[in-house]
Amino acid sequence: MKTKREIFRPSFGNRPDQLIGRDEVIDRIMEGLQSYPGSADRSVLLVGQRGMGKTALLLELADRASALDYVPVRVTCGEAMLENLIELLQREGTQYIKETRRSVKGVSAGALGFSFGLTFSEEAQRSFGFRVKLEMICEKLAKAGKRVLILADEVTPTVKEMRELATAYQELSGIDTEIAIVMAGLPAAVSDILNYKTLTFLNRAKRYELDLIPVGIVEGYYRSAFERASIKASPGIIREAAESTQGFPYQIQLVGYYLSKFSTDGKSVSSKTLHRVMQMVQEEVDEKVFRAMIHPLSDRDRVFLSAMAACDGVIKTADIESLTHFKHGMLQSYRSRLIDAGIITSPRRGELAFAFPQLADYLRRQESAQGA
Ligand SMILES: Nc1ncnc2c1ncn2[C@@H]1O[C@H](COP(=O)(O)OP(=O)(O)OP(=O)(O)O)[C@@H](O)[C@H]1O
Ligand SMILES: [Mg+2]
Repeated sequence: MKTKREIFRPSFGNRPDQLIGRDEVIDRIMEGLQSYPGSADRSVLLVGQRGMGKTALLLELADRASALDYVPVRVTCGEAMLENLIELLQREGTQYIKETRRSVKGVSAGALGFSFGLTFSEEAQRSFGFRVKLEMICEKLAKAGKRVLILADEVTPTVKEMRELATAYQELSGIDTEIAIVMAGLPAAVSDILNYKTLTFLNRAKRYELDLIPVGIVEGYYRSAFERASIKASPGIIREAAESTQGFPYQIQLVGYYLSKFSTDGKSVSSKTLHRVMQMVQEEVDEKVFRAMIHPLSDRDRVFLSAMAACDGVIKTADIESLTHFKHGMLQSYRSRLIDAGIITSPRRGELAFAFPQLADYLRRQESAQGA
């Protein structure tokens, strides 16, 4: 059983107490994973801003896929990802290979490429590259009725190993290997994919955008989670707490965490406590999410965003043009860049919106802090 303090876990890359609001996307991905080898539905790309729950969803998918005879392995995009992938597959997959040391005795192990289980013979280890090793492991696992699921987190197309993985996956799926891949990345990283020929298959992958979770779902979750975390709160306080998160997963965890920290056993959470918590959460989200999101942008991107934040209600592209004095062509190019980076959206022709409603408030707060 989880202790009161463990229900809410506001850090990146962990498994939440309960994964909420993702049932539909999980069902669709799982359905795709059941399709035939080589099917396009077996490659998935999850796109979402920082803290939107990409890693949490990958962890959940790994669990669910295990029940479908998949051997899931999760790697983070980077230099060591291919080595890690092979090693993890060997570690996780060996349990399914039923052979005793005696049964391989007498057979020319080198010819099989494996010395035992999923351990490569010395020669294979030395002479084969990633692509062949992956194929050999997939084949051996397939004989044991298992398939390989690669979960690649923090996908960055500029990483050479990511492109190597993409090419290997594409080739293996072309020969109907029992393999599937789910990748996750930030919108800005993923939009870069278009610039890499070897990654075109990522464009063909089934793409799911992870969005904010409906506040009603958060409210329902808080009702049960607060009880389990021994947080006493009136329905009004629960609703206000849920609304304050605006459905942002990281914030859902933060609000719950601070409420469990500052609530007194047996006493109902006061409005004052909730507001103190909301203030702390906002500071943390500003620092860990928005500052990180704005940091890589250029000064002109920021001018564009400030102009958007200064608009009330519907934001018209024409208003941004007159506020920024950017020439039309330049305005269009900043507009596309910010859309690609997942920071703004264009809900209708000629209109713009922030992908995160809270980002507008953040920019306004920054502006007034600088002006003060
Ligand atoms: N569907 C969900 N329901 C409840 N909590 C969630 C959900 N998804 C994520 N969380 C929580 O939100 C926080 C951020 O999630 P996660 O680390 O998965 O985000 P991320 O998109 O991978 O972020 P980053 O881009 O920084 O890697 C974690 O504390 C996680 O437990
Ligand atoms: Mg993550």
